[in-house]
Amino acid sequence: MTTANIKEPADGQQSGSATGAGQSEPFFSCRDIHAYYGESYIVQGISFDVAEREIVALLGRNGAGKTSTLRTIARTEEPMLKAGEIYLRGEAIHELGTYQAARTGIQLVPEDRRVIPGLTVEENLLLARIAEPVGWSLDRIYRHFPRLVERRSQEASTLSGGEQQMLAVARALARDIKLLLLDEPYEGLAPVIVYEIEQILQEVKEAGITTIIVEQNAIAALKLADSAIILDSGEVAFRGSAQEVLDNEDLRHEYLAL
Ligand SMILES: Nc1ncnc2c1ncn2[C@@H]1O[C@H](COP(=O)(O)OP(=O)(O)OP(=O)(O)O)[C@@H](O)[C@H]1O
Ligand SMILES: [Mg+2]
Repeated sequence: MTTANIKEPADGQQSGSATGAGQSEPFFSCRDIHAYYGESYIVQGISFDVAEREIVALLGRNGAGKTSTLRTIARTEEPMLKAGEIYLRGEAIHELGTYQAARTGIQLVPEDRRVIPGLTVEENLLLARIAEPVGWSLDRIYRHFPRLVERRSQEASTLSGGEQQMLAVARALARDIKLLLLDEPYEGLAPVIVYEIEQILQEVKEAGITTIIVEQNAIAALKLADSAIILDSGEVAFRGSAQEVLDNEDLRHEYLAL
């Protein structure tokens, strides 16, 4: 309940946080990033900043490049980042090898949720905490995810879609996370479950974690978010407050088909 407390898990090793220490430096930024799937040029010069603890809705029509942008930021193998800079708390993410971004606190929860079948809920959580740097303890996770307490001994693949999404987010929190990237977390879920996940994401924000959420359910994402980015053909078409998008019918028609 009282969640507005620590910013970083106390693992005692986090003394060297932001390198630059410049106060004006954004918490997260990508600067003119370009990424390719093979020859296909998809992320075409995207730039934006994100403030600490902000929830950003990353929106756009099908194929606009939302998933590709999240994957580029998370430094997955594909799409391949060919140009541009990405910084998290002053750390140069673009200079890391693929799959190293997670060590800096960037965690992507992909659309397919990727819980580990054959393991129980609790085993999924324990496995996420197997290597340093770890994040929330099991106790802390269970305080925020009461449904997972009920399901702790259940095999993960037998959970409902909503519960699997909760487990996927919980697994991310079990790591030492600074920036949470969510790809379509509400997909296929009933409104009551979407509501529960919204509550959890609000608590995650209060705990000091920054989130970028991609959602087809743009209205739900905008109601949760502080700000919005709209992508169109691999470029940023709009950057502003979430309220501006909710209020601007033309913008919604043009880029979100709402
Ligand atoms: N593995 C891939 N190889 C080649 N092109 C790809 C690949 N994945 C996506 N694309 C292309 O990149 C573009 C952007 O796709 P992306 O999945 O990032 O869009 P999106 O905004 O997430 O769309 P959606 O709302 O449908 O999830 C599309 O034209 C898509 O066809
Ligand atoms: Mg997508």
